[in-house]
Amino acid sequence: MTLKPPDRLISSDKVLSDHVYLVTGSTRGIGRAIAAEFIGRGATVAVHGRDQGQVETVCSELHPDRALPFAADLLVADAGELVLAVQQRCRRLDGLVNNAGGGQAIAFRGLSLDQWRATQRLNLEAALTASQQAYKLMRKSRRGCIVNIASLAAHGPGRWMGADYAAAKAGLVSLTRSLALEAARFGIRCNAVSPGFIDTDMTAALSEANRKRLAIPLGRLGRPEEVAKVVAFLMSPESSYLTGQVLHVDGGLTMQG
Ligand code: NAI
Repeated sequence: MTLKPPDRLISSDKVLSDHVYLVTGSTRGIGRAIAAEFIGRGATVAVHGRDQGQVETVCSELHPDRALPFAADLLVADAGELVLAVQQRCRRLDGLVNNAGGGQAIAFRGLSLDQWRATQRLNLEAALTASQQAYKLMRKSRRGCIVNIASLAAHGPGRWMGADYAAAKAGLVSLTRSLALEAARFGIRCNAVSPGFIDTDMTAALSEANRKRLAIPLGRLGRPEEVAKVVAFLMSPESSYLTGQVLHVDGGLTMQG
C-alpha cells in the first residue's frame, strides 16, 4: 500500500513566499526583526518608519528588492493612507503587522491629557485605521491576516509603563478580538502578540539590577527575533485555525499570575 502525500507540501521556511506584508515601525527593534524574518521566508515587506532616509537605509540593509521603503509619522499621518500606498505600489497586501508603538514610564498623577492622546494615537488609533483599510482590501480577496503587537502591559498594570500605554495596549487586544470575530467569515484572521521584556531601544535603560528584579522565569530578556518567529507563525497558513488569540512571548512572566 502506498501512502497518499499531503495535498500541498510547503517547506515551513517558505510559507510567506511571494506575499506582500506591511510591518509598521520596522526600522529597528521588534519590527525590523519581523521584516527580516518575513523576507527570509521569501516575502516582500513594506518597511515603515518616520524618516524616509532612515527607512531607505534599513531597506538597503535588509534586501535589495524585497524591502520597500515607506515613511509616515503615525502621530500625524493617517495609517490607512499608508496601507493604501502599499497596495498601490505592490498591487496586493497579504498581511499587516501593527507594530509601531511605544510609551514611557509615567506616574498616573502626572499623566497629561495630551500625553494620553498621543499614546492612544500611536499605539491604538493607528492600528485601527490601518486595520480598517487592510480589512477593506482583504475582504475583496477574501483572505489576509493581521497581527497586532500588544504588550504585557495590556494584561495588568506594571511599574514600567504609564496608564496611557497600558490602556492603549489593552484596547489593542480588544480591537484584535472584535476584528477577528467580524472578519472570520471572510477568511481573514486577526491575532495579537504580547511581548514581555524584549531587548530593544525601549528596554535599553533597564539597569542590571532591575532586569534581575523582573524575575523572568526563563532568566533573561527576549530577543526581537524570538517575537518575530511567533509573528511569522501567526501570519502563515501553519496557524490557519487560529484567530482572535493573544500569544504571550514573555519568557513565562504571565504564568505567575
Ligand atoms: P522601538 O522603540 O525599538 O521601535 C519602535 C518602532 O516604532 C520604530 O521603528 C519607530 O520608528 C516606530 N515608531 C515610533 N513612533 C512612531 C511614529 N510616531 N510614527 C511612525 N513610527 C513610529 O520599540 P520595540 O521595542 O521594537 O517595540 C515594538 C513594539 O513592541 C511596540 O508596539 C511596543 O510597544 C511593543 N512592545 C515592546 C516591548 C519591549 O520590551 N521592547 C514589550 C512589549 C511591547
